[in-house]
Amino acid sequence: MNILVTGGAGYIGSHTCIALVKAGHSVIIADNLSNSKSKTVMKIMDIVEEGVNFHKIDVTEEVAVEMIFRNYNIDGVIHFAGLKAAGESVEKPIEYYYNNLVSTMVLTKVCQKYGVNRFVFSSSATVYGDNNVPFVENMELLPTTNPYGETKAMSERILTDIANANPLFSVALLRYFNPVGAHESGLIGESPNGIPNNLMPYVTQVAKGKLETLRVFGNDYPTVDGTGVRDYIHVLDLAEGHVAALVNLTKGVHVYNLGTGKGTSVLELVNAFELANGVGIPYEIVERRHGDIASCYADATKAKRELGWVAKRDLITMCRDAWRFEKNYKE
Ligand code: NAD
Ligand code: UD1
Repeated sequence: MNILVTGGAGYIGSHTCIALVKAGHSVIIADNLSNSKSKTVMKIMDIVEEGVNFHKIDVTEEVAVEMIFRNYNIDGVIHFAGLKAAGESVEKPIEYYYNNLVSTMVLTKVCQKYGVNRFVFSSSATVYGDNNVPFVENMELLPTTNPYGETKAMSERILTDIANANPLFSVALLRYFNPVGAHESGLIGESPNGIPNNLMPYVTQVAKGKLETLRVFGNDYPTVDGTGVRDYIHVLDLAEGHVAALVNLTKGVHVYNLGTGKGTSVLELVNAFELANGVGIPYEIVERRHGDIASCYADATKAKRELGWVAKRDLITMCRDAWRFEKNYKE
């Protein structure tokens, strides 16, 4: 299939392009490079050893999006493009609502016009709010604490309404847990701008000596050791989950958790990183971070049952691959 991958130069999108090409699909990347670099596209090509189509466009711009649909025979869309920093979204709500919602509306509008009925959307476990773990797809969604989370819940709703109105439309809403790690080549991975918000990139930068000490946000949660528990998933497993969702997609709306189903605390992740890489991670316990929940992990059985997909790579592999990329990474 010819798959339009919006945000394909980004962290999860770039790994998914590799998984798509490996599975025999052709990829057309549309990315405005607002949070990525064009050299990532070159690295994707190095890894897959073939050409990949790339268009530097903003997917909120209908004319530019339509140009792509006119030039290629698109069979399906995977929509990654979006702004993703929960904390920043509180400061910049208009940018988040505009970018994340208008992109979804423009893409679906053009899809309808060109009869493209296969759509895969990047949602997030954040839509579960503070439900009891493990999170199951049919749980009632709880309000999230920031505009970013709201854009994911709203986009899910928009896509569901479109599928209800058009019986030919098929959409997968993929709720990601915490993607970490990198391609085993060490060529592509996660390279956030500035000081990372997320745990794994912070840990790798402490390991490299770019940052001094990891601050562990709270050790008084009702968890195994008091620190926050999350479902870390290797980004390549997540990428393969997209291929499985795309290939198995049938008419209507299908929601899948993409996680391992296993919770890991902050201190367990730090220990695993030290064990995997033989590098010490100095840390201090500080106050809880505003907006954090104690535990977040998936019930991952639906994706296994319906898509035949399970996350295969363990925490040690995630830590090893994340560190290999950080060691290689040059600004
Ligand atoms: P990323 O920032 O690395 O990738 C997103 C890409 O989209 C970037 O390359 C950026 O330049 C591009 N982009 C943004 N707005 C655009 C626009 N209007 N037009 C064209 N390109 C645009 O982020 P990621 O971690 O790869 O996340 C991909 C998707 O998955 C996002 O929608 C994000 O919200 C969602 N998600 C990510 C996580 C995570 O932990 N990384 C968790 C849950 C959901
Ligand atoms: C964060 C976002 C969420 C987003 C997800 C994936 C917030 C409040 N939530 O979730 O919307 O979908 O990233 O991108 O920003 N931790 C530390 N020290 C650090 C960093 C993190 O102790 O320097 C802890 C956190 O308290 C948490 C765990 O590590 O318990 C994971 O944090 P993080 O990687 O930021 O992911 P989430 O909190 O799950």
